[in-house]
Amino acid sequence: MNIKKLSALTACILLISSLTACTVTDTDDPGAENTVLKEDLSVVNENTDLTKGSDAAPSISENFDGLEPLAKKRGSALMKLMDDQAASDGKALMIYNRKEAWNGAEYNADVYRGNEIEVSGSFRSANPAVRVSIQFTIYGNTSYNMVFSVDTNESSYTQGSGRYIIPANAENIIVYIESDNLEDIYADNFSVNVAGEYKYYAEAEALVFADTSDYPSLKEKYGDHFLIGTAISPTSIDTPEYSALIKAQFNSVTLENDMKPEGILDHNKTVADKEKYMECPALKFDHLKAELDFARDNGMTVRGHTLVWHSQTPDWIFYKDYDVGGELADRELMLARMENYIKGVMEWTNENYPGLISAWDVVNEAAADSGGMRESLWYKTIGDDYIGKAFEFARKYAPDGTKLFYNDYNSYMAGKQSVILDFLRPVAEAGNIDGVGMQSHINTDINQIIYMTALKKYHEELGVEIQITELDIGTNIKNDSWQDIQGEYYKSYMQKLTELENSGVPITSVTLWGLSDAVSWKASECPLVFNADLSRKPAFDGMIAAAEQE
Ligand code: G3I
Repeated sequence: MNIKKLSALTACILLISSLTACTVTDTDDPGAENTVLKEDLSVVNENTDLTKGSDAAPSISENFDGLEPLAKKRGSALMKLMDDQAASDGKALMIYNRKEAWNGAEYNADVYRGNEIEVSGSFRSANPAVRVSIQFTIYGNTSYNMVFSVDTNESSYTQGSGRYIIPANAENIIVYIESDNLEDIYADNFSVNVAGEYKYYAEAEALVFADTSDYPSLKEKYGDHFLIGTAISPTSIDTPEYSALIKAQFNSVTLENDMKPEGILDHNKTVADKEKYMECPALKFDHLKAELDFARDNGMTVRGHTLVWHSQTPDWIFYKDYDVGGELADRELMLARMENYIKGVMEWTNENYPGLISAWDVVNEAAADSGGMRESLWYKTIGDDYIGKAFEFARKYAPDGTKLFYNDYNSYMAGKQSVILDFLRPVAEAGNIDGVGMQSHINTDINQIIYMTALKKYHEELGVEIQITELDIGTNIKNDSWQDIQGEYYKSYMQKLTELENSGVPITSVTLWGLSDAVSWKASECPLVFNADLSRKPAFDGMIAAAEQE
C-alpha cells in the first residue's frame, strides 16, 4: 500500500516507535546525592509491553520509580533518577549536562510507525519551554517535529500532552524531550500510547512520489506580486524529488535551522582560547554552504533567519567566561558579543555569497506570549534596548539593499501587536528597520479580517514592508472534508494578501514553512500544501486559484 491509499488524514503524516529492551541511567556523576544506581532490572517498567510484531498496542509508561529508565540520553545530556523531586510520589528523571537545546532524553519509537500516538508528561525546568519532539526519516529526509511544548517553571511540575500521526513510511523514529535552552529538565509520568486501533508495521512502507512536473508554478503565478519561498534543510535539497519541486515552485528559500546562532557559534574554538574570543565568539559556517550554493545556483534569494533570538542560541554565549553556571556577562560585554556576531555573519555571507541574502530576521520573537517583552537572556544581560542595538549593528554591517526585519508569531493578535509596535517605533524612527515578518503559524480558525487589519497596521504605523515568513495553516478539523476546508482557507488568505498588495501595502514575500506535511515542524496538523508523497493538496490548488482569479 502506498501513502495515496491511506485515508486523507493518515496520508498527511505519520510517526513513532519501537522500544527494545532499553536501559541506561547515566550516573557519570557518582558524587551526586540521590543518584539511584542500577540494581535490579526485573522490576523496571513492568507495565511496558513493547513486543515487536505483536498485535498488542505498545506502551511506554514511565514514572521513573524503578531502577532504570527506558529513556536513553540524547546528545551530551546525562540522566539521573532523583528522590524527592517527583511530581507526586517516588522519583523523577533529571536530565542535565545539556550542551545544546536538543540534548535531552529519547525513546526509540519504531513500533508506533503508521499509528497516531498520544504523548504525555510532566516537566519542571527553570527556564521555559520544555518540548516533546519526534524525529524520523522518510526516504533519507530526517525531520524534527514538535509533539507539544509546556511552559515550565522551577518550582512545580507542568503537565502537557499532544497527539501525532506517524507516517507509515517513517524510519528511525525517536520521541525525545528537549527545550529552548540548556537548563536541567525534570521529567515525571511520561507516556507514549497508541490513540485508536493499533496496526503493526514491521517495516517502513515505500514512499511512491507523485509526478509533480506538470504542476502550475506558484512563483510564476505570483511573479507580479511577491516572492514565494519555502524553508529548506540539507536533506530536503539532497532528495531529488524534493529539490525538483522546490526549484519549480519557489524563488526564495529560508534555511529552516542552519543559519540560527546554535549552528554558527563555535563553542569548542571559543572556549579553547577564551581570552582571544572574549568579546568576539568564534564562528563556523561550513554547514551552510550546501544550502546557500543550492539557492545561488538556482537563482533563488535567501531570507537570513535569524540573528538575535532567545531560542536555538546556546546559553554559554551569555556567561562572562562562557561558563554556564558562572556569572552572567554584563551589558557592555554582551553588546560587544552581539555586535561582533552580527558583523561576523554579515561579513562571511557577503564575502562568500554577495547579494544572495535579500532580508535578515535581525530580531526574532522578542515579545512574550503573556504580554510585554520576553525576558530572554538578551533582555536580562543588555536591557530593553537590546532590540534597537541589534538593528543598529545590523544596519552598520549589512550590505546596501539587504532588508532588515523584525519577525514574530501570533503578531496579528492585538495585545502582542501593541507590544511589538511599542518596541519597534524607535527602531523605525532611527531608520534601522525595513520590514516586519509575520511568521503566520496559523490555523483555519483564525479570523482573516483581524489578521489582514493587523498586517496593514504594521505598514501604516512603522512605514515598513511586510513579509509572510513562515506560513503554515494547520487545522483541527477531523472530518472527511478537512483538506477542502483548509484549501478554501488558503485560497481566501492568498486572495486577501494579493488584494492588499494591489492596494499599495508593500507585501514583498510569502514563505511556506516547509515543503510537505511529512517534514513540517507541526506535521500533526498537516499545515502545508503538499502531501508526504508530494501530491498536491487543495491548499496548493487554493493558492493557485487565488493568483488566477485576481
Ligand atoms: O540540530 C540538532 C542536530 O544537530 C542534531 O543532530 C539533531 C539530533 O537530534 O537534532 C537537531 O535539533 C533539532 C532541530 O530542529 C534541527 O536542527 C531540534 O531537536 C528541533 O527542536 C528543531 O526544531 C526546529 C525549531 O524551530 C526549534 O525551535 C524546527 O525544525 C524549525 O522548524 C523551527 O522553526 C521555528 C522558527 O525558527 C521560528 N519560528 C517558529 C518556528 C517553529 O517552531
